[in-house]
Amino acid sequence: MEAQELREAFINHFKSKNHAQIRSASLIPENDPTVLFTTAGMHPLVPYLLGQKHPAGTRLCDFQKCVRTGDIDEVGDASHLTFFEMLGNWSLGDYFKRESIPWSLEFLTGFMGIRMDQLAVTAFAGDENAPRDEETASIWRSLGMKDDQIFFYGKEDNWWGPAGQTGPCGPDTEIFFDDGRPKCGPSCGPSCHCGKYTEIWNNVFMEYNKDADGKFTPLKQKNVDTGMGLERALRVINHVETVYDTPLFKPIIAKIEELSGKKYEDDVKAFRVIADHLRASTFLIADGVVPARMGGGYILRRLIRRASRYMSALGIEGVHMAEVSDVIIRDYSSAYPELSENAENIRTTITNEEQKFHSTLKKGLRKFDQMVAEQGDSKVLNGDKVFQLFDTFGFPIELTKELAEERGYQVDIDEFNNHFKQHQETSRADTNQVFKGGLADASVETTKLHTATHLLNAGLRKIVSADIRQKGSNITAERLRFDFNLDRKVTDEELAQLEKFVNDAIKADLPVVCEEMTLDEARAKGAIGVFDSKYGEKVKVYSIGDVSVEICGGPHVQHTGELQGFKIQKEQSAAAGVRRIKAVVGKFD
Ligand code: SER
Repeated sequence: MEAQELREAFINHFKSKNHAQIRSASLIPENDPTVLFTTAGMHPLVPYLLGQKHPAGTRLCDFQKCVRTGDIDEVGDASHLTFFEMLGNWSLGDYFKRESIPWSLEFLTGFMGIRMDQLAVTAFAGDENAPRDEETASIWRSLGMKDDQIFFYGKEDNWWGPAGQTGPCGPDTEIFFDDGRPKCGPSCGPSCHCGKYTEIWNNVFMEYNKDADGKFTPLKQKNVDTGMGLERALRVINHVETVYDTPLFKPIIAKIEELSGKKYEDDVKAFRVIADHLRASTFLIADGVVPARMGGGYILRRLIRRASRYMSALGIEGVHMAEVSDVIIRDYSSAYPELSENAENIRTTITNEEQKFHSTLKKGLRKFDQMVAEQGDSKVLNGDKVFQLFDTFGFPIELTKELAEERGYQVDIDEFNNHFKQHQETSRADTNQVFKGGLADASVETTKLHTATHLLNAGLRKIVSADIRQKGSNITAERLRFDFNLDRKVTDEELAQLEKFVNDAIKADLPVVCEEMTLDEARAKGAIGVFDSKYGEKVKVYSIGDVSVEICGGPHVQHTGELQGFKIQKEQSAAAGVRRIKAVVGKFD
């Protein structure tokens, strides 16, 4: 069975139970600064699980793209994936366990064709935060589940969330496919990793909120949050051994076979790494992630570079990653149109990063060999030098570790981490600068430039592309510097229009108004900017006439006339897919 058939059947099942379908949200969480990527279907729904009204109602369903990056180095085995899709349904203070459990079972034994005796389920064993979930077990019994198919576990196994460090969470019931092989030992059960049990669905009964102090308090409403891994479900339905044997991966693997002239069976690890990492990279780039030295951009860089290394291991020479991406774009665009809409940017970003890596890889490998030669008898590579590989040659530490292990060496991780921490602190200072726009120096000039930046940002979205997002901003007393996503030059004509747009706003002497509101109110007002505050915490939203609404710490001028005039000095490339504009304010005629 193809993925799209399963997606549609799932959505239809829940539509028949009066659920509204919602769109998959971006992989970049809009409202959770504690994680880099959307890691679960419920992630974008956090405000609504906390009690805010959802415009589509109290019963929702969707398929959501997710990325989890905790186990990148495990990818290559039979089951780990960085990118995956989650089919999910939600009750926002509507139905609860008595409806949720039978509806899941109906889909599993109905459309998915799983027999009752092929299932095993779990329930929360209870602790100081929440009682033992006998209700869930009795619902399962009433539906025909035998006692020896029902397992009770503690918090580690049967409590889900929050998705970040704080937020909604609760006990869950996990549903497993039991492949029928004998138990591997007396304690074998769904939490055992012998392979007998595959988790396919997780129904979370979200009744609690975990706060920053680690305290659990009951939520205003009782919610249900369920998530079924699409890849695993397809594996079960198609009776295949691994997720890589499902129709989702077949065409990607076929493309890698064509490029390498090798068969999947020749080196399953390399094929899996390339397929998984390029699938994740393709989706991340479509959502605006750009390879970088920090944060989400660093994860993307790691994925592309690790995939590139395995492409070389398969003997694929030259630059071919975009060809693999093309297969992913082709197969996924009906479900995720953002892929075909961003196809060009995806190709260019992947190709640029691949080329960049090829050119440094050779030099870096030479440096690495030299390091090894200078090692003497020690089998632990010096962290200082390993950091140089990271810093100068862009070798992700995980790559150096893999290379070292292949040659029987280890890496002095503590020393590397010391260097890395220093590097991170400097970058963090830069990042704060990005978001606060250099407000440490809140002189009259920088205040003006700050307001000018908002006008420029609004102008870019109006004149050049509505998809433009801020990628960085730096303001000195002399000039503003603004980075944004765009995979081409801004034309001279557009630059002239931009200047005119900002100068018109200056001439109109528009009032700059600051209001405090919650993130959701800001979003409802159409504000742009970095949605990185904690839930409930108020943010400042600056409106400039009806030209710009943006979340920002300020300060700003009170009227745009104070800027006097605006001039663009330079437009250039800042990184793959990122352009940079430098501009000044003042009187120019
Ligand atoms: N949030 C739960 C999970 O990710 C169920 O959707 O497993």
